[in-house]
Amino acid sequence: MNPEIKRGNYAKEKGEVILREHEYDGIQEFDQKLPNWWLFTFYGGIVWFVTYWVLYYHAGWSATDEQKIITQVAALQERKDAELAATLASLDDKTLIEHWASDPAVVAAGEATYAVSCSACHAADLSAMMDAGGTKIALPGRPLTDGHWEYGSKPMEIFKLINEGTPAEATGYNGAKMQAWGQILTPKQVAEVTAFLISKNPQDFGS
Ligand code: HEC
Repeated sequence: MNPEIKRGNYAKEKGEVILREHEYDGIQEFDQKLPNWWLFTFYGGIVWFVTYWVLYYHAGWSATDEQKIITQVAALQERKDAELAATLASLDDKTLIEHWASDPAVVAAGEATYAVSCSACHAADLSAMMDAGGTKIALPGRPLTDGHWEYGSKPMEIFKLINEGTPAEATGYNGAKMQAWGQILTPKQVAEVTAFLISKNPQDFGS
């Protein structure tokens, strides 16, 4: 220990050198008062934290991230609802059969959607069967060319089923329910894929 060096209280005068008591591996620390600019930035930070915390979390001064997300999701849902309402307003059983299902471009668009979103469970040929090396295996979906429409055989009923999925009260098919495709596809895509199914079942729809 060097007796010339004062220890303990921090340096009060400019140029005064005071070392703290401890010393590790020969390293010592000055013990000086922190500069005022630093101290007041620090105190300001504390005051700002308390003010912000009270205003933001308790006084509802500004929307929280959670509220912002809820608002955005609600706006998106509103847009989707409006889009669906517009599609439904221009759609009925007759229009689906006579205009959508007989328009090759619409049917081709529906087939493309079907290939991506539906064939995994209903099979590319709509039979809901898969050929596994000579053995036929049933896929989870219902066959879509057997003339049986569990939830209504009118085009708009099929549209509704695809859009909204298995009704909540139904038990499904062998226990399997279908999801609401309206959450993933646009109303137009649902209408196109419905038109595709209609075009594949002329015996049911006279198309
Ligand atoms: C993950 C598997 C799965 C996918 C993918 C799937 N479905 Fe289904 N689908 C089902 C199941 C399971 C049922 C039976 C639901 C029930 O009976 O409640 C069903 C039922 C249906 C029905 C009713 C058929 C009938 O005979 O009443 C239609 C129509 C239908 N799906 C169309 C579609 C369309 C269109 C798509 C693509 C956008 C699609 N499905 C994608 C599993 C699937």
